[in-house]
Amino acid sequence: MTLLDILPSLGRAAPPRFDPAIWPTTTHADEEGRLCVGGVPLADIADEFGTPAYVIDETDFRHRARRYRKALRGIQVVYAGKSLLTTAVARWAREEGLGLDVCSSGELTVALAGGVAPARIIVHGNAKSPDELRDAVRAGVGRVVVDSCVEIAYLAGVAQRRQPVLIRVIPDFDKSGPSTCAVTTGISDQKFGFTLAGDHAADAAKRVLAHPILDLVGLHCHIGSQVTDPALYGEAVRRMIAAMADIRAQSDVILTELNIGGGHAIPYVPGDRELDLDELARVIEDALDEACAAEYFPRPKVVVEPGRAISGRAGMTLYRVHSVKTQSGGRTFVAVDGGMSDNPRVSLYGAQYTVALANRHSLGAKQLVTVAGRHCEAGDEIARDIELPADLHPGDLLAVACTGAYHHSMASNYNMVGRPSLVAVKDGRARELVRRETVADLLSRDCG
Ligand code: LLP
Repeated sequence: MTLLDILPSLGRAAPPRFDPAIWPTTTHADEEGRLCVGGVPLADIADEFGTPAYVIDETDFRHRARRYRKALRGIQVVYAGKSLLTTAVARWAREEGLGLDVCSSGELTVALAGGVAPARIIVHGNAKSPDELRDAVRAGVGRVVVDSCVEIAYLAGVAQRRQPVLIRVIPDFDKSGPSTCAVTTGISDQKFGFTLAGDHAADAAKRVLAHPILDLVGLHCHIGSQVTDPALYGEAVRRMIAAMADIRAQSDVILTELNIGGGHAIPYVPGDRELDLDELARVIEDALDEACAAEYFPRPKVVVEPGRAISGRAGMTLYRVHSVKTQSGGRTFVAVDGGMSDNPRVSLYGAQYTVALANRHSLGAKQLVTVAGRHCEAGDEIARDIELPADLHPGDLLAVACTGAYHHSMASNYNMVGRPSLVAVKDGRARELVRRETVADLLSRDCG
């Protein structure tokens, strides 16, 4: 019997131990107070596979994918593989009816190995090499998103049959731009795509149309990351339909596909906002109605490319506490066995995280701590000034939420530390999707 059974009013007063907006849908505490995901105690995963470890909840991933398909009916959903990709993850996306967006021959190979139909793959990248373009056309990918003039020429040179193409367009968001975004790609002064200003996008369309082996089917844009305001996607749709009408006027061609990219926000700490999918569906619908009517333009097929919103909350990272130390006149540092090599997002973007004690439940006092990494750099932190139990000690296990997206895929070997394993959980079972990198792996690349 727990304290909550004796005093049920406690349950109503206390905030949930694991905020359901942040932790995977299957998260709960077992009778020993241990954090469990996918029916598996995280402490067992740490014992079996070691730490640090990335854990991914297959049920949560699939649930998010289904939610997308339900909320955005009539819109094609393509999972952005750059957020998290293994052959198993590619298979989950495929089985849930999503396409896959890749941006290197490596990601393409993993997607194909995961059984994704080539026709459902979109190839991105602002600096694709001729070899990568050749790999893509040989595989028979559904779309190549062209990003520069020279790439259009390369692609036409390597294509063996008619290759469907999208043009990456910058919606020129400078004036009314998405100021809330953590990373902004919808503005003119950045490396991706062709600007609307100066007629660069319309000129790119003429170049593609000059190659009969290339089949120009539509436009693509991506406005930024962690976008919480659906109205920005409405604005992107309006600008892109106007650009399509302009291309029709200049080149006498009607484009039938509009890909408005990803960037859908998720919460990392309690109180963070997320992009509302029902609202997004309404905004896209209204913007299409309005813009197509204004330009007398036939409604194109709409495509979205969420990555983080599907993989982010499904994942977490497990760390073992190595030391707890309070500096005289300074902070209390909880040093763990991972850090910026498995999570570069804190030092890169100032990202914030929710951290929980995973191997036991502590009802005692809390203290303000900084969870620091193991790397030789002062800025190597996972979470600053967060509350954790005051009795935290070496050997405890910490779980950091929302690390499913852009952690495994952005990990490095800084300090010659091998990258963590990626363990999937589902229905009470854990299995390794990617094994831990060993020092022998690292040494095997050293040519001596
Ligand atoms: N489509 C395109 C063309 C993209 O460039 C991206 C992300 C996505 C889709 C997926 O965006 P998502 O829905 O996952 O936000 N490393 C940064 C994120 C960089 C995203 C780059 N492009 C981070 O850790 O926050």
